[in-house]
Amino acid sequence: METQLRGREFGFRAGEGQLPSGCFSLPRPVCYFPLVNVARRLASSVMAHEPNATDAQFYQPSDDFFLAHRHLALTYDDVTLATLFSEVLPRDTQLDTELAAGLHLSIPVISSDMDTVTESRMAIAMALNGGLGLIHYSMSEKEQIAEVGRVKSHVHGLIQEPIKVAPEQLIGDVLEMIEKQKYAFSTFPVVDAAGKLVGLLSGNVIKPRFAKRKVTEAIIARAQVHTIPQKELGTDPISKADRFFTDHPGIHKLLVVDEQDHLRGMFAMSDVERIAHERKLQFKPARDTRFRLICGAAVSATRNAFGDLDRDRIHKHVGALVERGVDVVAVSTAHGHTKGVGETVRTIREAFPKLPILAGNVTSAAGVEYLADCGANTIKVGQGPGSICTTRIVAGVGIPQLTALYVCSKAAAKKRVTLLADGGITKSGDIVKALTLSHAVICGGILAGCPEAPGQIMEIGGKLYKQYRGMGSLSAMKAGSASRYGHTKDAARKVAAEGVEALKEATGPVENVLTQLIGGIQSGMGYLGAKNLAQLRQKARYIRVSAAGMREASPHDIVELKTGAH
Ligand code: XMP
Repeated sequence: METQLRGREFGFRAGEGQLPSGCFSLPRPVCYFPLVNVARRLASSVMAHEPNATDAQFYQPSDDFFLAHRHLALTYDDVTLATLFSEVLPRDTQLDTELAAGLHLSIPVISSDMDTVTESRMAIAMALNGGLGLIHYSMSEKEQIAEVGRVKSHVHGLIQEPIKVAPEQLIGDVLEMIEKQKYAFSTFPVVDAAGKLVGLLSGNVIKPRFAKRKVTEAIIARAQVHTIPQKELGTDPISKADRFFTDHPGIHKLLVVDEQDHLRGMFAMSDVERIAHERKLQFKPARDTRFRLICGAAVSATRNAFGDLDRDRIHKHVGALVERGVDVVAVSTAHGHTKGVGETVRTIREAFPKLPILAGNVTSAAGVEYLADCGANTIKVGQGPGSICTTRIVAGVGIPQLTALYVCSKAAAKKRVTLLADGGITKSGDIVKALTLSHAVICGGILAGCPEAPGQIMEIGGKLYKQYRGMGSLSAMKAGSASRYGHTKDAARKVAAEGVEALKEATGPVENVLTQLIGGIQSGMGYLGAKNLAQLRQKARYIRVSAAGMREASPHDIVELKTGAH
């Protein structure tokens, strides 16, 4: 009995692993049993990894599968992935992805550069959860640069350039600045014209009743302000600041000064606490080398009055974004395999040799090769799969997403660029399938109902909704996205829209939506025995699904009480 139990413990059926008759006379019988076990376990693990000939006839790797189906354009719901022997627990899977040198995400999800999806609030939430937000460009360049600034200054350990005020300013001016810039904080270091620290203006005194008073009348004097010399920061400034706040109850700000008492930075206790907590998370926020959240911004293939590419303006725009710390620019258009997009990528690449560039959209190998040759690092794939897109209906153009991804993946591997699956993601299973052929996904609709997306919540018939519109819809083109579809803003009224205006049911915050998506991606990877995204791409095997198979995949023949989502 004991032997049977131990056998079961080792993964054998009852009866297996019992000592053969005649073995009891062995001098050390206790050693014999583990040796048999080891041998059997080795044999069974080899068998578990061996390809099975029957499976191979049905479940095919990407090259075999997509070539066998080349007469048919396929998308996510047309296929399913086969399971494989696995030693990988979903919770242990790694989701990090490197899209370009220096552009590293902890999770492979990007929020779309659409005016109803990504502004600074969404970009902050995406980066805090390990992804990336692309700030749209249906706003002035100045506004977009300020939006990027908000993400880059959100929460980082050492605020290297804190917002300062001058001693002679009025409190009323400070109030106006907070209101105008929408700052979420209200304590400001006070410095003189030479940049020397004069004191600290606390949020307690920034009130309308003190509006007419000068800053200097209300500050905490220099002698009472807690500071640390810059040269004492060492290699782990966050731990140093963390210790300081523990040792000084009630103090929430620590300023960094140089030998001449010039202000060189600031620590806020709330930031330091958050970062200390983040260090324990499985999916860490996506940060740059200076510990700031990462952020992307869309740029346009802007033309001048003569219809030529306005290189000066593009350089100025991208230059200002880079100065604000942007981590990647996205040259986003409906048709990326064009001279205008190629030249825009080329001119940015020439002026900013190290800046990661994302460009698209394409659905052909030639398109990927062209943009890669122009200098793009990562290419967006998707023409018409989006939930608000009508390109395929209006223009009769576009390729269902999985086939497009496969075709593009061949060129991407050749050119050593990465791919983004843009549009058409409605559930985590779609992301798993997309990631078998790409390096990250771009989502619009799935995030548009979150409170972090721009726009107000509206109530219709007792339900809550948010606006979600295609960037090729008439209203979005009039608001500034027309160039993305090859039109001018003024002409946008008269041209055919390639997107619709819609509503999305309001959802919970980005963190909740991403938690569900990540859980699904990790499950998928566990089923395929893939520890990381590279293994997922390498191991995936596909098979077509019939309409009945598709019906079988969703809950059926039940009265559903609760959906899978929390
Ligand atoms: P999802 O499915 O996530 O798609 O809502 C978002 C992606 O759709 C693209 N997009 C458009 N495509 N007409 C189009 O044909 C449009 O008006 C439009 N607006 C956005 C875009 O690639 C986005 O990331």
